[in-house]
Amino acid sequence: MNSPDLYAVFGQPINHSKSPQIHRLFAEQTAQNLNYHTKEVGKDFFESAANNFFTKGGEGLNCTVPLKECAYQFATKLTQRATFAKAVNTLSLQQDGSILGDNTDGCGLVMDLINHQISLTGKRILILGAGGASRGIIAPIIKHKPKQLVIVNRSIEKALKLATEFQSLGMSIHGCGYDDLAPQQFDLILNATSASLSNQLPPLPKNLLAKNGCCYDLAYGNQPTIFVNWGIENKAIKSLDGLGMLIEQAAESFYIWRGIRPNTQRVMAIFNR
Ligand code: ATR
Repeated sequence: MNSPDLYAVFGQPINHSKSPQIHRLFAEQTAQNLNYHTKEVGKDFFESAANNFFTKGGEGLNCTVPLKECAYQFATKLTQRATFAKAVNTLSLQQDGSILGDNTDGCGLVMDLINHQISLTGKRILILGAGGASRGIIAPIIKHKPKQLVIVNRSIEKALKLATEFQSLGMSIHGCGYDDLAPQQFDLILNATSASLSNQLPPLPKNLLAKNGCCYDLAYGNQPTIFVNWGIENKAIKSLDGLGMLIEQAAESFYIWRGIRPNTQRVMAIFNR
């Protein structure tokens, strides 16, 4: 058998990453001969580590926190969705030697929402946070034509800036602070802040979630996140964490690299969800 094609994920921290297991399962399922490993890399060493990886025969690289902007700078070509996101989570070596940067996060989120029959079209959607995670999901959400899209952030200027930046995509997006939210209600609230990682909840007013509304935390953990629990307490009909998004974004990266779409539901079942 030929030696396996080389893939990796770089990030910091990276020890708890589920990506190697996910890609191993995808590779088994689709009979692909590849090796996918993790490497702890900080921002200062990203460029040399990535150069080294591709020089030594690496075919594709995932980049996670805090490297998505470094990867965006590193790529020699960008897809349209990476250009909008200004962040890259998937690098691929091209036949001409160039490195294509893509962002599969937003697509992963939308796929997971579809898997859970959570519709975006015609819905009032609230995104919590105005950092890199929010940036990656806005364009794919707009494609599904929500009725309303609001971005809320602690530092209001960042929310306003992001809203203005994405106006060109053809829908009016509103940026605001948490105090400005009441008495509005939303059908879908997406938590794209990093608050869950430190077990904190953004300051959400009461009655923010509409009847039959859903909550989705882009973060995930072994236990339901604090925001997932907030959704349950606020009578969300579905309150989900980001494991499904992680698997879906990985599947999209796998497809970019290998040209084969793995069955994500089978992998989800292995993670016992
Ligand atoms: P990422 O690239 O993962 O989105 P980031 O760019 O550091 O990370 O952004 C983190 C986001 O989480 C920001 O929107 C941040 O709000 P501020 O810009 O006001 O700092 C938000 N955030 C982090 N902790 C939060 C908390 N406890 N409550 C509300 N928002 C929080």
